[in-house]
Amino acid sequence: MSQPAVVRLARTSRSAGETRRLGERIGRRLGEGDVVALSGELGAGKTQLARGICRGAGVPDDEVSSPTFAIVATYRGRLSVNHADLYRVGDEDELHATGFHDLVGRSGATVVEWADRFPGALPAERLEVRLSHEDGRPSGRRLVIVGVGERHAGLARALAPRAPRARRSPAG
Ligand SMILES: Nc1ncnc2c1ncn2[C@@H]1O[C@H](COP(=O)(O)OP(=O)(O)OP(=O)(O)O)[C@@H](O)[C@H]1O
Ligand SMILES: [Mg+2]
Repeated sequence: MSQPAVVRLARTSRSAGETRRLGERIGRRLGEGDVVALSGELGAGKTQLARGICRGAGVPDDEVSSPTFAIVATYRGRLSVNHADLYRVGDEDELHATGFHDLVGRSGATVVEWADRFPGALPAERLEVRLSHEDGRPSGRRLVIVGVGERHAGLARALAPRAPRARRSPAG
């Protein structure tokens, strides 16, 4: 009996730029129907990661609006990217009214901030990234990444630390 592919890994980021670059690595591989669920407290870096994802997906930087945009925005890049922020959504009815359910998994890829506010709203097969502040490091963040299903497991794998270049072993 085959099990669904699941890839879990943890990364740390030392700066907003590093978080965006991790996002770009996701974005470059992003395909139609992919779903990225971002969670973490205020200021954890969800939007920074989302910006990187959009950049990696070929969305011009100035298309990605400020964090105070409407609940769902769609950008055009190599594929279309739906970017949702569920922070201000009160309940399921309100979520329906935004058209969110029509977008997810249908056209383009979807990146959702505060995805954990509506756990049932997203398909089980998704890439989840939980961001948190690292104690004692103002610019340190921990990212816990889980990809479920072949597609999203592949996206998670792409975030594995790169193997260091092989070094010549010291003589003698
Ligand atoms: N390692 C890091 N990764 C991401 N952001 C960082 C990091 N270090 C510092 N920051 C700063 O933390 C802030 C993260 O803000 P961001 O809007 O991405 O958070 P958020 O999780 O989307 O918050 P909100 O839920 O309020 O939308 C930015 O000001 C960013 O410059
Ligand atoms: Mg945000």
